[in-house]
Amino acid sequence: MNLKKLVAAVGCASIALIAAQNVQAAGKVEVLHWWTSGGEAKALNVLKDDLQKKGITWEDMPVAGGGGEAAMTVLRARVASGNPPTAAQMLGFDIQDWGAQGVVANLNDVAKEENWDNVIPAAIQRFSKYDGKWIAAPVNVHSTNWVWANKKIFDELGLTPPTDFDGMVKALDKIKAAGYVPLAHGGQAWQDATLFDSVVMTTGGPEFYQKALIDLDQDALKSDTMKQVFERMRILRSYVDDNFSGRDWNLASAMVIDGKAGMQIMGDWAKGEFLNAGKKPNEDFLCFRFPGTQGTVTFNSDQFVMFKVGDDRAEAQKELAKAILSPTFQSAFNVVKGSVPARTDVSDAAFDACGKKGMADLKEAADKGTLLGSMAHGHAAPAAVKNAMYDVITAHFNSDMSAEEAVKQLAGAVAGAQ
Ligand code: GAL
Repeated sequence: MNLKKLVAAVGCASIALIAAQNVQAAGKVEVLHWWTSGGEAKALNVLKDDLQKKGITWEDMPVAGGGGEAAMTVLRARVASGNPPTAAQMLGFDIQDWGAQGVVANLNDVAKEENWDNVIPAAIQRFSKYDGKWIAAPVNVHSTNWVWANKKIFDELGLTPPTDFDGMVKALDKIKAAGYVPLAHGGQAWQDATLFDSVVMTTGGPEFYQKALIDLDQDALKSDTMKQVFERMRILRSYVDDNFSGRDWNLASAMVIDGKAGMQIMGDWAKGEFLNAGKKPNEDFLCFRFPGTQGTVTFNSDQFVMFKVGDDRAEAQKELAKAILSPTFQSAFNVVKGSVPARTDVSDAAFDACGKKGMADLKEAADKGTLLGSMAHGHAAPAAVKNAMYDVITAHFNSDMSAEEAVKQLAGAVAGAQ
């Protein structure tokens, strides 16, 4: 090799070495999450790409199952064996439970540098902080009181979005008479509970929702209003198809997308599936608040809880936390995911009609005091209470249990779980 070639070869080698060192310096993040549907995976790619551009390697740890029950089981096993991931997707009260275990990182430095205290709403911070310390980075705000409808079916039958529960029933009847599945639903506990969020809100209004599902007031839980909630759950049950049992939520979304079913009652992550299938709001599908819940928002916020990791991983973890809260990322990610930004200072310009509505509704509800945590998605009560409620809601939905009996069981189960 002549001298020129040798110098060039050494140059290349050292550039490669420096590049490798940079990658190593930037490190890797291992992230546990349950975003495995088409729309969810697409949204998560926005975060993966963002980090990869910063030279951080993404080690994926997906655990399928909406609502995150299965993911939490895997997480417990990982932490118990002394090998926590860098970060784990988590909801509401679960974050607080992990905070109490003393295994999570303190993000106060990043939070201070990036001014999180002033750009994240108090309703979200209440879950992101434990004992005054930031332990989680909120990536979005979802809400559960939405209906996703097939526009072609609505147009064909001359339907417009109903505005109260009776109107909903009339619309479901029309869709049924025309030979479509009226309600696309997946029979899984968290999906039944997602319906329940909306039915409680439309039946009792925000004060009742607060009393029954957040304050866990026994009188509210045993009330005639709650009896009516279960009667209405029974009515909704009569509009699902025979194969609903165990169906994943995204397959229920696909029924609406494909024109087999008229509507799905689901959080706005469903929009991610419609978009992923190339569908457009107000052209192919409609989004509207569950009839009778306009002006209220039952929210949940996906957050990434950061675990205590060794020094070799701390820098990359910090970068992950920073990336999640960056305003450009919050817009780019939530446009795809179906949620709205967790930061209050992000423009709605890049969002479609449903996203713009979601952002405006969130603001309105926050101002009016009608922004309430979703029970189904861990933002109303701790996991033990939530699971006790799930059991009764699902047992009632899947049997001929009377509304009286369901009310009795619900009140008893909640008291027993506290
Ligand atoms: C929710 C979560 C959403 C969505 C959904 C279905 O609990 O907040 O981001 O992923 O589960 O998987």
